[in-house]
Amino acid sequence: ALPAPFTTGFAVPPIIRPVRSDATTDYYRVSMERTSAEIVPGLRTEMWGYNGVVPGPTFVVPQGRKVMVRHVNNLPPAHPVLRYAPWTSVHLHGSASLPQYDGYASDITNPGQYKDYRYPNYQPARTLWYHDHGLHHTAENVFMGLAGMYTMTDPLERSLPIPHGEYDVPLIVSDTMLNSDGSLLFTTNDESGFYGDVILVNGRPWPAMRVARRKYRFRILNASISRSYNWSLSTGDRMAVIATDAGLMTGPQYVSNFRHGVAERYEVVIDFAKYRAGQRVVLRSGSPKNNIGFTHTNKVMAFDVTDDGFDNADNDVPSSLNPLQPTMALAESAAVATRRLDFGRSNGRWTINGTTWDDVVRSRFTKVLAAPKIDDVEIWELRNLSGGWNHPAHIHFIDFRILSRNGRPALPHERGAKDVVYLGENESVRVLIKFDQGRGKYMIHCHNLVHEDHDMMAQFEIRDPDV
Ligand code: C2O
Ligand code: CU
Repeated sequence: ALPAPFTTGFAVPPIIRPVRSDATTDYYRVSMERTSAEIVPGLRTEMWGYNGVVPGPTFVVPQGRKVMVRHVNNLPPAHPVLRYAPWTSVHLHGSASLPQYDGYASDITNPGQYKDYRYPNYQPARTLWYHDHGLHHTAENVFMGLAGMYTMTDPLERSLPIPHGEYDVPLIVSDTMLNSDGSLLFTTNDESGFYGDVILVNGRPWPAMRVARRKYRFRILNASISRSYNWSLSTGDRMAVIATDAGLMTGPQYVSNFRHGVAERYEVVIDFAKYRAGQRVVLRSGSPKNNIGFTHTNKVMAFDVTDDGFDNADNDVPSSLNPLQPTMALAESAAVATRRLDFGRSNGRWTINGTTWDDVVRSRFTKVLAAPKIDDVEIWELRNLSGGWNHPAHIHFIDFRILSRNGRPALPHERGAKDVVYLGENESVRVLIKFDQGRGKYMIHCHNLVHEDHDMMAQFEIRDPDV
């Protein structure tokens, strides 16, 4: 039987250390391999982990240090149930990586091979994550465990009196489903998505975390295959959202609940000072429209307030965080073009502007949905025209800001720089993008990984002005 909610201890993934360093670069080695996790006490669940851990080890990287990761595919020759060959492609989500290091879906590494990925790390501090992006098997590979966090710090982020160190905590949230013997049960509900009945935080089902009576910063990553969440606290108290996908907001937004789609990252400060020792505060989730709920999918984890001693440093949320955030400072009037990207369904496939990744492959990667010029600013209007579905739309390589959602201002929690935007049923969102990071072809896709695999993915290309 599954453990009852809040009976499992809370844990965070280990931090990975470089195997060597030189003047500019830290070098890491990661082996993707079979492992067995104990999700249900006493049962072994066969999974695939980066370095054999699920979620993968966390990278903590200071801005300005380059990183090279040798990702070795040591996976078995075939998936234990679905029997496909687990080729992989590793994407560092949130990084302005060169195209050859971006985890292109079709740039696959087969079992027994490796690939070296280089990451520039010059962007503002943010919560990134790395996950598999292998052609047509991203959902299965991530479900097997191939995802982890990567946090980048910078001098501004370190100088703010917001929680750091042991009070800066990753919450990697995903859902799963198990057979009675503990093995993973994978059903993709007719390409609509995967909705498990078990909620995991850092790989543990509905854990309970002991907290001191002070502020904590939680880096919440929705690493689910398809599920979206709507967070709230059992006390009804507000949380301070301090950062979005691409880093610190200009100032905090205080919200009592907020919607969180797949692949989005939100950093949230929760203040436990006003609770008494012995009190339990539950992080709950409402179910945004078009998700499938089960008995316990409305709860996520518990915070058990203690009278443990604590360090009182960095126990604040200043009203100004990153006032000069470059993406938030972009002016809409600078836009030189407006483009539309419609997330839809045709001929039984998920599409963007009628295109699938198969179309891109068949064109020998010449087909692009947009070709902005380097340094241009554009408005992209992302529309969900597919009926009763949600699509978390992700644009690789760039950061954007939301100009409007359904003709109205962005929701309070999404008023920061982003790289994924939730497109709920019939929603349409206008985003402002500056293409100033470099040239090349990058993917745009739905981050419901089942949609992505079937085949809601296309590419755009940033070109030189004279082309
Ligand atoms: Cu999280 Cu195309 O990626
Ligand atoms: Cu989708």
